[in-house]
Amino acid sequence: MTIGFFDSGLGGLTVLSEALRKLPHEDYIYMADTLHVPYGPKSKDDVQSYILEAIEMLMQYHIDALVIACNTATSIAVAELRDMYAIPIIGMEPAVKPAVEMNRATGKRVLVLATQLTLQQEKYYALVSRVDEQGIVDSLPLPELVQFCEALQFDKRMITEYFRSKLAPYNLNDYGIVVLGCTHYPFYADLLREMLPPHIGIVDGSAGTVRRLAAMLHRYGIAESQGNGSVKLLCTSGDQAYVNKMRTALDLLAGNTIYT
Ligand code: DGL
Repeated sequence: MTIGFFDSGLGGLTVLSEALRKLPHEDYIYMADTLHVPYGPKSKDDVQSYILEAIEMLMQYHIDALVIACNTATSIAVAELRDMYAIPIIGMEPAVKPAVEMNRATGKRVLVLATQLTLQQEKYYALVSRVDEQGIVDSLPLPELVQFCEALQFDKRMITEYFRSKLAPYNLNDYGIVVLGCTHYPFYADLLREMLPPHIGIVDGSAGTVRRLAAMLHRYGIAESQGNGSVKLLCTSGDQAYVNKMRTALDLLAGNTIYT
């Protein structure tokens, strides 16, 4: 099967990397919207039209299923995309519900990290209102982390300092879970793990998304069981240097060390 992956930039590679581990026999085509990354600080209307344009480009490759490996794009455009295209489409949203459920017993708070645009959407507000009866969810955008990632900035000391300053207003003893609700953020999950107190769990959406993809492939009876599979990396600006950067980022995710 040919599975399309989409993100504004490098973030969705964290999900693709998980897919390559769990579903290695499929063919993947990944499209990054390099003409418009980052989405987080932009307006909903602008980002929605960027997404529709980029997905139209991706559809030229005759993909059989689409993973929107971007929480922001999912919250802004998944309904429109499902109306426009007949193929199965899997989206992502911050894992607020499982985080709240996991925390019920401990009475601790949940901190959701995601882009401003995701956090501003009615969809996010509705999700939190639905599952957070006790008012334990706090939300924090980390726009610079997307920029660091796009620049392949993995300087351990610098990023640790950044996390420290962003988390300084929070009493971490009150928190039980941090949700990574933007696919760029898991590039920094290990660093965050090192600096958070050990009782805090980190949840990101990649494993759940890939499980849904696997279930969908099986349901339609279209999962590949053999062969090497392939990965084609594309970007909306057609910039070869960026494609090389995507390859580097994917290799970093497959290896053991990201930080310098
Ligand atoms: N990777 C993105 C997400 O999951 C969007 C980051 C951005 O373009 O600001 O939300």
